[in-house]
Amino acid sequence: MKTKKEKYEELAAKRQQALLGGGEAKIKKLHESGRLTARERIHLLFDEGTFQELSVFVTHRSTWPGLEDKKFVGDGVVCGHGLIDGRPAFSFAQDFTVFGGSLSESNAGKITRLMDLAMDNGAPIIGLCDSGGARIQEGVASLGGYADIFLRNTLASGVVPQISAIMGPSAGGAVYSPALTDFIIMVKNTSHMFITGPNVIKRVTHEDVSFEDLGGAYTHNSKSGVAHFMAENDEDSIDLIKHLLSYLPQNNLEDPPYVTPSDDPMRIEPELNEIVPDDPRAPYDIKDVIHLIVDDGEFLEVQPLWAENIVVGFARMNGHVVGIVANQPNHLAGVLDINSSIKGARFVRFCDAFNIPLVTFEDVPGFLPGTEQEWGGIIRHGAKLIYAYCEATVPKLTVITRKAYGGAYCVMSSKHIRSDYNIAWPTAELAVMGAEGAVNILYRKEIKSADDPKKATKEYIDKYTEAFANPYVAASLGFIDDIIMPQNTRPMLIQALENLLNKRQQLPPKKHGNMPL
Ligand code: HXC
Repeated sequence: MKTKKEKYEELAAKRQQALLGGGEAKIKKLHESGRLTARERIHLLFDEGTFQELSVFVTHRSTWPGLEDKKFVGDGVVCGHGLIDGRPAFSFAQDFTVFGGSLSESNAGKITRLMDLAMDNGAPIIGLCDSGGARIQEGVASLGGYADIFLRNTLASGVVPQISAIMGPSAGGAVYSPALTDFIIMVKNTSHMFITGPNVIKRVTHEDVSFEDLGGAYTHNSKSGVAHFMAENDEDSIDLIKHLLSYLPQNNLEDPPYVTPSDDPMRIEPELNEIVPDDPRAPYDIKDVIHLIVDDGEFLEVQPLWAENIVVGFARMNGHVVGIVANQPNHLAGVLDINSSIKGARFVRFCDAFNIPLVTFEDVPGFLPGTEQEWGGIIRHGAKLIYAYCEATVPKLTVITRKAYGGAYCVMSSKHIRSDYNIAWPTAELAVMGAEGAVNILYRKEIKSADDPKKATKEYIDKYTEAFANPYVAASLGFIDDIIMPQNTRPMLIQALENLLNKRQQLPPKKHGNMPL
C-alpha cells in the first residue's frame, strides 16, 4: 500500500506529466516552428492566476497496438475556464506535442464538456486550434467526437460568442468546427486550413499548390473569406481575441460591455464636410468617415482583406458598442456583389444575435452587373443581406453619404426594413439609378433625334439630377428622418442611439426562417 507521502508524490508526478504534454523534445520542435505550446497560449489568454483546468487527468482509451501503452496525461488538449480582462471565458487549446494535437474520443469529451459548461454559464468559448485532425488510430470514435463538437458549436451559435484561433494545422473535416464559430483568426505562416491537402489535390485535379497558397492565413483572409482576422504570430492572435472580446457581450441575454467614454459625444468634425468629392464618380475612403465619427477613432475591422467593397467592424459611440456596416466607394465604387453581400449579412446577423446596434453608412451604386455575378447567384446571395437586415431587431441607424441607388437603397438598412433613424448628407442621391443610366433609358429617342445629342444629354442629366439626385424627395416621403451637415454626424448618431437603446421588437413566432443560403 502506498503511503500518503507516496500518494502526494504520485500526484505531483502526474501533474508534471500533464504540464509537459508530449515532452521536451516535441516542445522544442514546436517552438522552432514559431509556435507556442497549448499551455503557453492559455497562459497568455487568461488573466494571471485565474485559469482553472478541467479534465486534467483524462487519457485516451484506444487499444490500437502501440497506442494502448502510449498515454499522455490530458491526452492532447488543455481545457478550462478563467477570466479574460476580468470576465469569465471558457477555452480549449489543442496540444500539438501529443499525437499532433489529434482529436481522440477522450479529448473530444473534454471539449464537449467544456462547451456545455460555457453554455450553461453564458460565457464565450475560445478554441485555440493546432491539430492534425481526427486521431487516425481511433477511427470512427474520433469522427464521432468531431460530430459531438459540431453539434455544440451549432447549439451555442447565437447564445455565446465563439472564437477560433487557428495556430497550426487544421485539416479535413476538422475545419468545420471553427467554420461553425463566429470568428476565425489565422496566424501568418504557421496556420493552415483545408479540406484536402496539396497531395490529394495534385492526384485529383492535377493542380500544383503549396500549403500556404492553398490554405494559409492570407488565402483565407483575402480569397475565401473563411477567416476574419490575420495575426502576425501566436501572441498577436491572443491579443486579437482579447480585443475582439472587449466588444462582445458574454451571451445573447446581455448587452455588450459599456466603457466610460473619453471622447466628446458632441464633437463636431468639419473635416467630414470635405470628404465626399464634388464629382459623384470620384472615390473616397469610407474608413476616414468611420474613424472621424466613432469614439477615439477606434474601429476593429472584421475581414479587412476580403470583399473590400463593404467594410464591417466594431466601434463605440459614447461608450456603447456598435456594429458598423459601410459601403466602400474606394473599392469597386462600393458596389454590392456576391462576396460583399455574404460578408455584410453574416456580420449583421452576428450583431443582431448579440444585441449590438447597427450603424450603416451608405454609398452604393447598386448590385454589380455581369454574367459572373448572375451565374454565381447574386440573386440568392444579395437576398442574404436583405434577409439579415430585415430580420435584425437591434437598433438600426443609417447615414446616406452619397449614392443610394436601386435595390441597394432598399437593402442597406432603409426605413422600410425597420431601420429606426435614417439621415442623409446633402450630397446624398436616392434614386432608382444614376443620372446617366436613367437618361439613356428615359430619353434615348429624344437624344438620338436632337440637333446636338451631347448638349441634349447634358440637359436631361441636369434635369434628372435636379429632380432625383438629392435627398429631399426621399425626405419629403418620410424615408429620411433628417438631412444634416456631415460635421454633425457623430452627435446626431449618438443622441439617436442613446434614445433607441431600449428598442424591443419581436419576430413572428416560428421555428426558424428559411434564409436564402
Ligand atoms: C494521429 C497524428 C495525426 C493524426 C499527426 N499525428 N496527425 N496522429 N492522428 N491525425 C502525429 C504524427 O504521427 C506525429 O507523431 C505527430 O503527430 C506530429 O506529426 P508530424 O507529421 O511529425 O508533424 P508535421 O510534419 O508538422 O505535420 C503536421 C500535419 C501532418 C500536417 C498535421 O501530421 C498530417 O498531415 N497529419 C494528418 C492530417 C490528416 O490527414 N488528418 C486527418 C484529417 S481528416 P510522432 O509520434 O511521429 O511524433 C479528419 C476528419 C475529421 O480530421 C472529420 C470530421 C467530420
